[in-house]
Amino acid sequence: MKGISLISLGIAVIFATSITSCNNQKSEDKMEPTKGITKAAFGNADGKEVFLYTLTNAKGTQVKITTYGGIVTSWVSADKNDKKSNILLGFDSLGGYLAKPPYFGALIGRYGNRIAKGTFKIDTSVYTLATNNSPNHLHGGNKGFDKVVWESATENDSLPSLLLSYFSRDGEEGYPGNLKVDVQYTLTDDDELKIEYNATTDKATVINLTNHCYFNLTGDVSNTILDHELEIDADNYTPVDSTLIPTGKITPVKGTPFDFTKATKIGLRIDSVEGGYDHNFVLNKKDSTLKKVATLSEAKSGRKLEVFTMEPGLQFYSGNFLDGTIKTSDGKAINLHTGLCLETQHFPDSPNQPAFPSTLLLPGQKYHTVSVYKLSVSK
Ligand code: GLA
Repeated sequence: MKGISLISLGIAVIFATSITSCNNQKSEDKMEPTKGITKAAFGNADGKEVFLYTLTNAKGTQVKITTYGGIVTSWVSADKNDKKSNILLGFDSLGGYLAKPPYFGALIGRYGNRIAKGTFKIDTSVYTLATNNSPNHLHGGNKGFDKVVWESATENDSLPSLLLSYFSRDGEEGYPGNLKVDVQYTLTDDDELKIEYNATTDKATVINLTNHCYFNLTGDVSNTILDHELEIDADNYTPVDSTLIPTGKITPVKGTPFDFTKATKIGLRIDSVEGGYDHNFVLNKKDSTLKKVATLSEAKSGRKLEVFTMEPGLQFYSGNFLDGTIKTSDGKAINLHTGLCLETQHFPDSPNQPAFPSTLLLPGQKYHTVSVYKLSVSK
């Protein structure tokens, strides 16, 4: 956390910038964006002010992040024809998020993905969580980290960087231990969005933090992601039961629709996967260093997204529950498979699966993990 100055929620800008309003998309488009970070009001939630930060890099790529849920609301970048568009599903006002869309762009915690039947044990203590995805617990419960207001600070460095902090008290959503969480988002000049997660606890707990951005590299939600090509460096995946809980098996992808070891169109075999892709891939990486684990590309836009992580798993979710009922801020229906998530993580239900890498965090230990989404364009 070197170089971070915790600026109180009132102070705004760390770099000189010509952007004055983050809410006025039209006038912003006309202006040449200046590298840096700006802050704007974004409404209120839980009786607290919510802010929207805009991170701009030297190329003019802009990522917007709100302190509500730590949500990345948009990522605007140029395609191969230099046309700028937003590659994320999201909204331009807080109301869209308060209506509880399925975790668009959000920070997920205390435990990303599912815990079977909402219960787990640490030593002899049994903990009970909300079964908000009946019969299981999903993404931290009824009010996970995606639905709380985070404290924010900006970093006084050469890259636009936003530090979000949240204190999750002992017993919140049923989890043990007071947990101090910091998430730092940094946008580099190479169009990398780096997400660094840190946490400590005062009592043994479980933790599995991730981000839930839905990507659509066409930059247009009227297209599905079925023509996107995906490559995942995973020879195995964790098959699930009918409630999406891993059976405990680690199964080879070879000869199955889960084989993304070579770049493959998502739509090619999706029909043979009941319900679509919503599975944890067991990454081939052998240690917890930061490694490239997946590449997503889309030919028409020329965009490519590379995923790097320190985590052992990657949840590939093909937007199977999107059904057109949610609309974008400009009224377009968000239909089936119009966005996909690549959630870096420990495996689902690890607290109940002793053979999976552990998600236990003990007092005195430091939870630290980094994931990077790197965007590029080939012309
Ligand atoms: C995750 C889960 C999915 C679904 C989405 C949100 O990716 O794995 O099953 O719950 O979140 O709709």
